[in-house]
Amino acid sequence: MNITELKKESKEEEAEGSGFGDLYIDVRYKEKRVLSDGQVMFLPDIEANHIHFKEWQTRKRSAQRLIDYLKGKTKPLNILEIGCGNGWLSSKLLTIKNSKVTGLDINEPEIMQAKRVFQKDNLEFICGAFEPGLFKDQKFDVIVFAASVQYFPSVKNILESAFLCLSKNGEIHIMDTNFYKPNEVANAAKRTEEYYEMLGYPEMAAHYFHHSINDLQPFNHKILFNPKRLINKISKKDPFYWVVVKY
Ligand SMILES: C[S@@+](CC[C@H](N)C(=O)[O-])C[C@H]1O[C@@H](n2cnc3c(N)ncnc32)[C@H](O)[C@@H]1O
Repeated sequence: MNITELKKESKEEEAEGSGFGDLYIDVRYKEKRVLSDGQVMFLPDIEANHIHFKEWQTRKRSAQRLIDYLKGKTKPLNILEIGCGNGWLSSKLLTIKNSKVTGLDINEPEIMQAKRVFQKDNLEFICGAFEPGLFKDQKFDVIVFAASVQYFPSVKNILESAFLCLSKNGEIHIMDTNFYKPNEVANAAKRTEEYYEMLGYPEMAAHYFHHSINDLQPFNHKILFNPKRLINKISKKDPFYWVVVKY
């Protein structure tokens, strides 16, 4: 499927109300995670009294780590962010000199917001679901999954799909998502079910997946930030792994 077909299909799916997008955005409203254009513009900075302020501070640190790392490559980068939401991170990635960034997301209201708020050269937002072959005529130097891998059922499948549009020496970065030990996965899934039940959206649990850190084993990967390291465990500030995957 090419990008034009994808845009058409996404609109039809949303019109029928059948997609994950409708449910996801309802849940995000309930969680107070849908922000105004004025707030999105300044992310990851947000008012200190905002309910998710601490979470945004965590996101700010992980985004900065990624940006510093990518700036170290000292070359123009063609970057794809999969599951870019309102586009704040895609926009920040443009601070890497001469970079070009594409943000993809299935959730139309937030992609529309991203387009409204961040109108910049070399920044494009596309509404649609990530699937194999979507960008078959393009190669990206960097593919980022920030807080999005948990919405994909299989780490293996999305990494294999991402490799299809990754350049030869390219890198896939996964961040701001929980990875569990294999024996923790079932309990984590139970907690998620209870959480969405309590929120009034039990059906959302079927769209939220819990991945084990072992799922990365078949891939050439390196952990760039490990929340389980003693020093990070003590600080308790940053709970998420940051992982780079290469060919
Ligand atoms: C928690 S948000 C993260 C947004 C952004 N990356 C950030 O760092 O704030 C996860 C996003 O993944 C998107 N998503 C989930 N499944 C997707 C799919 N199959 N294709 C594209 N985007 C998807 C959701 O719509 C949502 O906007």
